[in-house]
Amino acid sequence: MTDWDRDQVLQDDTFLIHPLQHPQDHSNPVIYVKGEGSTVTDIEGNTYIDGLSSLWNVHVGHGRRELGEVAARQISELGYFSCYAGVTLIPAAQLARRLSELAPGHLNYTFFTSGGAVSNDSAIKTARFYWQAQGKTKKVKIISRDHAYHGVTMGAMNATGISSYWPGFASNLPDFLHVDAPYPYHYNPQDTDMECGEAAAKSLEDAILREGADTVAAFIGEPIQGAAGVIVPPDDYWPRVRDICSKYEILLINDEVITGFGRIGHWFGISQWGIEPDIITFAKGVTSGYMPLGGIIVSDAIHACIQQAPPDKKWNHSFTYSGHPTCCAVALKNIEIIEQEGLIERSLVMGDRLLTGLHRLANLEHVGDIRGMGLMAAVEVVKDRETRTPYEASEKIGARIVEEMLRLGVYTRCRGDSINFAPPLVISADQIDRMVEVAREAITTVTEG
Ligand SMILES: Cc1ncc(COP(=O)(O)O)c(C=O)c1O
Repeated sequence: MTDWDRDQVLQDDTFLIHPLQHPQDHSNPVIYVKGEGSTVTDIEGNTYIDGLSSLWNVHVGHGRRELGEVAARQISELGYFSCYAGVTLIPAAQLARRLSELAPGHLNYTFFTSGGAVSNDSAIKTARFYWQAQGKTKKVKIISRDHAYHGVTMGAMNATGISSYWPGFASNLPDFLHVDAPYPYHYNPQDTDMECGEAAAKSLEDAILREGADTVAAFIGEPIQGAAGVIVPPDDYWPRVRDICSKYEILLINDEVITGFGRIGHWFGISQWGIEPDIITFAKGVTSGYMPLGGIIVSDAIHACIQQAPPDKKWNHSFTYSGHPTCCAVALKNIEIIEQEGLIERSLVMGDRLLTGLHRLANLEHVGDIRGMGLMAAVEVVKDRETRTPYEASEKIGARIVEEMLRLGVYTRCRGDSINFAPPLVISADQIDRMVEVAREAITTVTEG
């Protein structure tokens, strides 16, 4: 397959600290060496369907020579130069203009970063800046939701609502708080007759009233909560949230790191609910993962605030790699591919096939919930379907299903016992069907075997 020797690679690997590092999770690492379309191949020559676009990001599929050619051309012309004020770079300016065409109505101005978490930190800082610049100096609090994943830099980690990311890092920054997520499968109305979407929106409004609207800068949320297990909100949720944010003068930040660039049938997923946030954060699919790039797209009003600040109170936020010309050139080509190959429409057609296929797993005894939108779906497995009781975490059911799926030739990841599916937008019908069959076999083996 390749000249590399597995043992040699593993010796080198002892020097590498991986994301989410723990020896227990790294006893027998897979070494991927090649990708083509919706498949990846390991060092031993085994080929797998990439059921998660690696980390929800390889929208146009693996092995795209045209992206390599664009990168090579840009690197040979001007691989890197700073894009700090006083300089501009052609790919960065072109990409910013393109994004203003693709983003909803009044979102027209982009600042580039190199990934998702730093984009969210940039959005949080920008929201605070917006209010500070208007003399509303107490408006600093950031509200996010349970189950949210916004990345793990200091600000993003505090907005993240999956508590396993907090211990050990002396997290708990002041002025970050979490409210309920709209999670229909686990919604328990108890003593209210409210539907799930209304109740979750009310939880946001209650928090604003409790804290005081004059202390809250922004609410941040993923249109569909991805890493937590593809939690799709009821249709009334986002319009309600938009109204609440407008009513109390709170900026709405949508984290489109997963849902952006066609994953759920729109350039930006929030368009599904017909609303416009004040800031969009993006990363992943903007380059299909071929280059590290992210950013924030801000509204005309926020841009005006940045532009009008006096020099000694300017928006003093920056990254060395903001506007990186090679990353931006690859993003432009990637967007062109998504458009020319009709991949946004394809995410709906193939997504429909995926969800229909997964719904056929509903006859399995331990399949509790099947949900998704576009090419983003999850199957949640539970111990008792009647009572929706989850398995003990120590049983590691989700992890075992994912392991079994890999053995059967499909790569994916899980969150708890929710098995996630987000293949490249170029996936074929046959590959979707195979993925569903493998899921059936793996769930059956692990839960009934
Ligand atoms: C919705 C969302 N936001 C932010 C991030 C963080 O992105 P990064 O890992 O590039 O910092 C992720 C990563 O999976 C994500 O899913």
